[in-house]
Amino acid sequence: MAILSIAQNEDIAREEACRILADGGLIALPTETVYGLAADATNGKAVARIFEVKGRPRFNPLICHMSGIEMAQRYVDFNALAMRLAEAFWPGPLTLVLPLRPGTAVHALTCAGLDTLAVRVPTGFAQSLIARFDRPLAAPSANTSGKISSTTAAHVATDLGDRVPLILDGGPAAIGLESTIIKPTEKGVELLRPGGLAASEIESVSGIRVARSAEAEPAIEAPGMLRSHYAPGAHMRINARTAAAGDAVITFAGAALPGDEDASIILDLSPSGDLREAAANLFDYMKRADAAARGAIAVVPIPNKGLGEAINDRLERAAAPRV
Ligand code: TXA
Ligand code: MG
Repeated sequence: MAILSIAQNEDIAREEACRILADGGLIALPTETVYGLAADATNGKAVARIFEVKGRPRFNPLICHMSGIEMAQRYVDFNALAMRLAEAFWPGPLTLVLPLRPGTAVHALTCAGLDTLAVRVPTGFAQSLIARFDRPLAAPSANTSGKISSTTAAHVATDLGDRVPLILDGGPAAIGLESTIIKPTEKGVELLRPGGLAASEIESVSGIRVARSAEAEPAIEAPGMLRSHYAPGAHMRINARTAAAGDAVITFAGAALPGDEDASIILDLSPSGDLREAAANLFDYMKRADAAARGAIAVVPIPNKGLGEAINDRLERAAAPRV
């Protein structure tokens, strides 16, 4: 692990960060809110590594950091209200949840298979790095799961040091609180997570009351988040031991199921048994299996270690009975 001071050599820090990111690696990055653990948001394996390093037992959608409105427009659709808010508060501690444009390069693992994407433009070095990299960065707070967010490079080094090749030191985070997350729709503004930008300030700019949602962040992460999550139309059987004719089979490490010769499709999450690759393929394969299934979707048992825990969590949610 290396710590590079941005104040001492900004150009070297930026170039080294871009090199690691382009290579599919992770970096710890200062933003005005908290330090982020960043990866190329278009690289599924790199994003899977974020969950691995944080030790997160489930895949929640991550915020995509952009260099500006123009870059964000490549990936999400802005309504008039969203545009007004972006113009007023970006760069800054405001995250907007907006409809994902179909067919963009943002990897499905970044938004956990949702059809919306959380986007924000950070200030300062982070913004200039993203502009140089010219791709969005997925970045949750740089801390292991269950610990508080890091606001200094030293915090990050203590918590994650042995698992991140590069920590960029930009001094203490100016705000020290995560960004405020809102969802601007035709109907108004919904507050999903209170944060570094006061709701009252958003209200004075938009002239619209911010609805303090019953679906604040804890609710999003609770099983309630299932409602907005992709659930396949076909019935899903996890830990399957057999396949029926017409089933779509999702397998792992080349495992075969009795009966899979009559499957409508067989998709291997990772022929080599790499859980990181499996995580990166998961959302895409669930959708492909759903499209191909003439019966159910049968999923072989996935080892419940490392990223396998988050993969199984997601599979269990997709297989849960619908209300
Ligand atoms: O200040 C911040 O926002 C920091 C710095 C690094 O930018 N980042 C951060 O990211 O806190 P993260 O990934 O930990 O925040 C993710 C939260 C999720 O838990 C979820 O509540 C919300 O953002 N979120 C992300 N995508 C969403 C979506 N499509 N719909 C609803 N909520 C979403
Ligand atoms: Mg966090």
